[in-house]
Amino acid sequence: MIQDSALKVPVVAIDGPSGTGKGTVAARVAGRLGWHVLDSGALYRAFAYAARLKGVNPDDFQEVVDVDVDSQITFQSAAGEVRIMLAGEDVTDAVRSEEGGRAASVYAAIPAVRSILLARQRAARKLPGLVADGRDMGTVVFSDADAKIFLDASPKVRAERRYKQLKEKGFDVNLARLEKEIAERDRKDVTRAESPLIPAEGAFKVDTSHKSIDEVVEQVMVVVHTCLRKSTS
Ligand code: DC
Repeated sequence: MIQDSALKVPVVAIDGPSGTGKGTVAARVAGRLGWHVLDSGALYRAFAYAARLKGVNPDDFQEVVDVDVDSQITFQSAAGEVRIMLAGEDVTDAVRSEEGGRAASVYAAIPAVRSILLARQRAARKLPGLVADGRDMGTVVFSDADAKIFLDASPKVRAERRYKQLKEKGFDVNLARLEKEIAERDRKDVTRAESPLIPAEGAFKVDTSHKSIDEVVEQVMVVVHTCLRKSTS
């Protein structure tokens, strides 16, 4: 057992629906620990973008498998922001749009897509450690994670946060429509057969509806330190 934990690269898994602050919290926690960060949603978004560009029919297994772009998806840090690159092209704005999220949700429900991206996600597990955010980090991809966190917030608060973000980026958005779209995407993510969005067993749940990012980060850091102490003892 001692040997196992000495060899194992530690992982903090942060799951939850969109609009809970997952991405920001994961990046801040990774910064505090000095660890790597994995935004698994960005992989699904970039995959869906490439598939749609090729005109792939999501119901055609072979067409989906042939998309084969996971190795062409890279992340670049620029001016304190992470840009998503696809074969060298910056696709951040397109994949981060609401349309990009909808498309990602469709492809994320396809088992072949999930298994294509699985190896890529696991390869991100490198020393000194990884903070991974997504929907199935604690249940499937890193089921042996040292700390598992599940962030949630009311659909109304999540829609308002997303509305503000999109407005700031100059997108033309409608709050009521956004709320409906978020509820629809949740339904798809929660009810799909493959890796549905559910809290991992033993995950520490945080409702971020009425908390600032700083408060959530502090709470998560306490959990992480407690869990890391346990896994190294
Ligand atoms: O976290 P996000 O909003 O960028 O994710 C985009 C979509 O990808 C979301 O609808 C669910 C899907 N996704 C997933 O199924 N599994 C993950 N680990 C991450 C994202």
